[in-house]
Amino acid sequence: QKIVLAYSGGLDTSVILTWLKESFDAEIITFTADIGQKDELDGLEEKALRTGATKAYIDDLREEFARDFIYPMFQAGALYEGQYLLGTSIARPLIAKRMVEIARAEGATAIAHGATGKGNDQVRFELTAAALAPELDVIAPWRIEEFREQFPGRAEMIAYAEKHGIPVTATASKPYSTDRNLLHISFESGMLEDPWFDPSADSNREMYVLSRAPEEAPDEAEYVELQFEQGDCVAINGKRLNPLEAMELLNELGGKHGIGRVDMVENRFVGMKSRGVYETPGGTILFTAHRKMESLTMDREVMHLRDSLIPKYASLVYNGFWFAPERHAIQALVAESQKNVTGTVRLKLYKGNIMGAGVQSPVSLYNPDIATMEADPSKAYNQGDATGFIRLNALRLRVASGVAQNAGKQ
Ligand code: ARG
Ligand code: SIN
Repeated sequence: QKIVLAYSGGLDTSVILTWLKESFDAEIITFTADIGQKDELDGLEEKALRTGATKAYIDDLREEFARDFIYPMFQAGALYEGQYLLGTSIARPLIAKRMVEIARAEGATAIAHGATGKGNDQVRFELTAAALAPELDVIAPWRIEEFREQFPGRAEMIAYAEKHGIPVTATASKPYSTDRNLLHISFESGMLEDPWFDPSADSNREMYVLSRAPEEAPDEAEYVELQFEQGDCVAINGKRLNPLEAMELLNELGGKHGIGRVDMVENRFVGMKSRGVYETPGGTILFTAHRKMESLTMDREVMHLRDSLIPKYASLVYNGFWFAPERHAIQALVAESQKNVTGTVRLKLYKGNIMGAGVQSPVSLYNPDIATMEADPSKAYNQGDATGFIRLNALRLRVASGVAQNAGKQ
């Protein structure tokens, strides 16, 4: 049989590759998605083949990731538990989608991954596989007892790797786990498991990858202009860019100014709380700019309706329900809500901060003639109307209050 393995080239998936091959007497085809993790991809094909894979796919999915996953999610304004921009969560359905395509093309009967049995990633991979290719089996070695018994710790994995001639790289020795892509890098476990540990301390500066510490960011603020069309950023500083190019440029700008670092304790879908540190430099700029663009161009009721769906949408992405009917349904509403979100936002970046520095739109709904404190030249608003507006809105409050007062007298 053939098994397609989601392969990063790290210690875990290298050991899993060899272990699967031996335990299932199977041909292993590795799949690595290039979703913007950069240097981690160097030499990976050779490494997979040397570790025993019969074939190694490395597919550049960066454009698709930016266009079909990141951009639609940012139209929705998704934010998990008020802080997390979902950088890992949004990548998993894309990786799993391509993995099942490869499995079908290769005639594989199963897909395998190295996510642990305690995390979110296993759920995201497997819900996607179920939605797109229900006929495929899923093998998750970390959920198999013999595998866990054989590898109770990293020492056993390193010994196994050495015995099987699997090269162990320096990155395998980092005391925490990372996951990087075009949208973010995450850090978990190790010293971060203590929620009192301060990741922003000077002594921890070398952990960060995508951004400078705000303390080390330039003393000069920098302006950036993002141009939006129907909710998507289509140009930066006057230059038209596709979603991938836009994300890359925003990451550079955000990273330079120490923007987008988050430290939080979050609720995993499987029930436990977990501590994560994230760098989302470009995404944080895009998120802020998009909201400012909406503030000028979006109808109030449409905005409040869409906003009411943000926690729901964010949970769907976090929990792995990207390819689920309810996510598609909300996405259709989101797309409708974005039709007028067009114009330009100017931001000022300074030492970890993003400040609004102006917004304009050819389809702005903001009317200074109506909003002005000066005499209203448009005659669209009659202040006297507000008397009746308030009186009717107050009616039920008066009634309830009167009832409460009478009850108090008795
Ligand atoms: N806690 C984040 C999430 O669930 C990040 C997960 C990182 N995954 C990883 N395999 N290191 O989206
Ligand atoms: C893992 O458990 O594999 C990583 C963390 C997560 O998926 O939440």
